[in-house]
This record gives sequence, structure tokens and C-alpha cells, in this order.
Amino acid sequence: MTLSLTVNGKPIELDGADLHQPLLHFLRARGLTGTKEGCAEGECGACAVVLLRKDAAGDARYVPINSCLLLLGSAVGQELLTVEGVAREDRLHPVQAALVESGGSQCGYCTPGFVMSMFAEYYRADRDGYDPEAISGNLCRCTGYRPIRDAARALGKPAADDPHLKRLTGPAPVTAPVSKADGKAFYRPARLEEALKLLSEQPGLTLISGGTDVVVDINQRNVSHTGFVSLENVQELQAFTLSADELCIGAAVTLSEIERRVHGKLPMFEQLLPLFSSRLIRNRATLGGNLGTASPIGDSPPALLALDAELRLQSVAGKRSVKVADYFLGYRKTVLQPGEIIVAIAIPLPAPPVQRFYKVSKRVLDDISTVAAGFSLRLDGSGKIRAARLAYGGVAATPMRALDVEAMLAGKAWDSAARDAACKELKSAFTPMTDHRGSADYRRAMVSQLFARFFHETTTAPAQQAAPLA
Ligand code: FES
Ligand code: FES
Repeated sequence: MTLSLTVNGKPIELDGADLHQPLLHFLRARGLTGTKEGCAEGECGACAVVLLRKDAAGDARYVPINSCLLLLGSAVGQELLTVEGVAREDRLHPVQAALVESGGSQCGYCTPGFVMSMFAEYYRADRDGYDPEAISGNLCRCTGYRPIRDAARALGKPAADDPHLKRLTGPAPVTAPVSKADGKAFYRPARLEEALKLLSEQPGLTLISGGTDVVVDINQRNVSHTGFVSLENVQELQAFTLSADELCIGAAVTLSEIERRVHGKLPMFEQLLPLFSSRLIRNRATLGGNLGTASPIGDSPPALLALDAELRLQSVAGKRSVKVADYFLGYRKTVLQPGEIIVAIAIPLPAPPVQRFYKVSKRVLDDISTVAAGFSLRLDGSGKIRAARLAYGGVAATPMRALDVEAMLAGKAWDSAARDAACKELKSAFTPMTDHRGSADYRRAMVSQLFARFFHETTTAPAQQAAPLA
């Protein structure tokens, strides 16, 4: 079958193309040099392009992504727009015009990326005013953000005859399975059974979904792979179910989709997800990927540990479930066996009524954590702690709970004496390391400080604790 993708309305055949290269390189080599390379690791947004994707309701929507982190194999069958494709022949696109009007571009290196993020936002069906999140993945080093923000604030609604708006009334492309076995192999199966079979027959294949971690290694460390199995089209990994006793999220559901689906339902996730990198990354990244890479500073594990989440794993040998608390074995080591994949993440319900997520990083948004923490509490009718979960990332070789402190808190009143006793113990609960993000002493201090903040926030603003899934 001929492999192709559609760029700015024109189909491009990909037969013979290297499917392991980032889409960004492919576009620029074809003369589409408006799309820039700044960092090649998902931090600057200069490479942003827009994909036309189907949302959970089946409607087409524009989704901005970092083209430096999308392998060409993942782009097969997709329809995308670059900055060269947004204007009409004789007129700037309204987003471009707004940036010109507000003086939102100086050197212009970042501008194509801002245009593409704002373009997707311009057509968002439920847009209701300015959302800073829409450009949270785009950095500018010379204009200053106020004129750019002014441009974003000034955007009106698309005209009825706008061709990009009309395109949204049609279907998004259906991305068919890909099976390229020769040379640099790339497989994109539609069913779990096929993915597991591929992994068992070809153990050297690398799993990929959003690519926001794997492709950074390709770009920055010249890591090469014999072949990939892309999980993003696997139906079983896209499941999302909510019942009385659990919330089950498919491992390949993007973080942006999770944000939309859990909105108003799970406070821990509402606090976690906006701090999880940027919108451009969340449009591709998945919970399965964040757990699969097993980084000790991954953002999701402290939240999932505090919610007592469980992972559903599967291989050709069968299925099993593992608590997140038992999943990490050591630095980037997990219980996952060769050929076994994370299918879903299940969060037991009702969720603890008191829950909080915190992240300490050098920059609030779009940054890697120095220390992260997820806390949850269940109190009995008299205000005593029935169960406490204190989970941290960035303080050991794996994300960890402070089990001794949790045990010490059980049965105590949730008061300042409990806080002080816990903070004292927390100071020596972990042996963090020193690196360029923070010293061991700083991390130790943050471990107890974050808990003190949790106490303060949950005892002075109890009304905010009502959790809809509690
Ligand atoms: Fe910086 Fe892609 S080049 S995010
Ligand atoms: Fe120069 Fe933004 S205008 S980086």
C-alpha cells in the first residue's frame, strides 16, 4: 500500500522516505522552511504544525503539535497544515494579521509556531475568550509576550466562508494501519492483539505513542532504533470508562483528551495536567508513555500513587494488574516484562475526598520537576485520618510513597500536631541526589514544605476539597 500524508491540502507520497525521521526534517527538506527548529526537544514550539484529528465526539478539530517530536511514520495518513498553508493567496490569516497589528514579532523565529498554536485555538469550537494555555508551549526570546498575548486576545470568530472552518465540517482523516517491515521498520497496528504479536515476534522493536520522550533521544543523543510499534491507533488503548468504582484510562489516550474528559471530576488531575509540560506536548503525550519511560521525575506517578492507581498490563502470555506502588523497581526499571505493555490505568473510586498535586520546578509551566508530590487523605467523621497517601517524585531513584509517615499519621487528628510530626519525619524519609535542578538539601526541604502547604491549603480552604468523584 502506498504511504502518504497531506500537507497544506496536497497529498505527498512517502514510499522510500525514512519513517524514523522527525516530521520537521521532512517538511524542511521539502522547502517548507517556515517551520523552524529551535530546541528539537519539545520546549520552544518553533516547530509547531497543526494536525486535523477526530475528537472523542467524532468531530474534526485542529490539534497543534511539535513536529520535531513526531516521527514521519506517525504522520502517515494524517492531514496537516504548516505556516505556509494558513493564509489565503492575497490575504494574511487573521492570526497572522493580529500578530502584525500588535507588533508580536521581532526576529520572527518563534512566530510560525505561535501562528500555528493560535490558528488551532482560533478554530476551537468551544473557545470562549483568551486561554493562555493555547500558547503555553511557545517561547519567544525577543518580542516579549505582551504583544503576542494582545494578538491572541484580539482574535474574533472565523468568518462563515473561512476555508479552514469549512474543512472542520468534513471528517478528519482515518489513519489506516501502517506495516513497513523493510529497512527502518514502522508498524502502526489498530488492535492490541497485533501489537502484542509484533512485540513477541520482534523483541527489538521500540514502543512509541506520542513520541515526546523517545524522539528527544533520537534528536539529542542520536539514538537509533531498528523499528517501532506505534500504539496510538490501538483501539483498546484508547478506551476511557467511568463507573461507580473506577475511572479507567487507556494508556494511549492523550493528556489533552484526558484533561477534557476528566474536567470537573478529579481534582488531582485538574491540578496535575496544566503543569504537565505544555499544550503542544499534552496533545501527543500519554499516561502510558509517562509510566513506560519510568523516569523518577515523571509528573504522573506521584498523583497516581496518591490515588492508589493500578496498571492493567498485557502480553501474548496474558493479562495482569499491578499497583503503581509495585510497578517501579529501580532507576528506569519496572516490572514490565519483554513484550508486555501498559494497556490502561485504573483509578479506584470513590477517590479520596482530599487530594492535591504540587510541582516544584524552575519555571511554572513547560518544565521538568525538581520535586513533585501527590497527597490524598480520607478522614473519619470525627476529623481523624483514616488513610493518608504521601507520594513524591524527584527524591529517589523511583517515585515513592512515604510509607512510614503515612502509617504514623493513621488514626491521628488532622491538625497542626500531625503536620509537625509528619514534617519532622519527612525531612529524613528520602535520600535525594544533587543535580543541576536542585541540591539534595533543597529537595529534602521541599518534601516537608510541600506537605506543610498541603496541610495549610486543606485546613484553611476546606470548601475546595469537595471532589466530584469522591
Ligand atoms: Fe523546539 Fe520543536 S524545535 S519544540
Ligand atoms: Fe524573536 Fe520571538 S520574535 S524569538
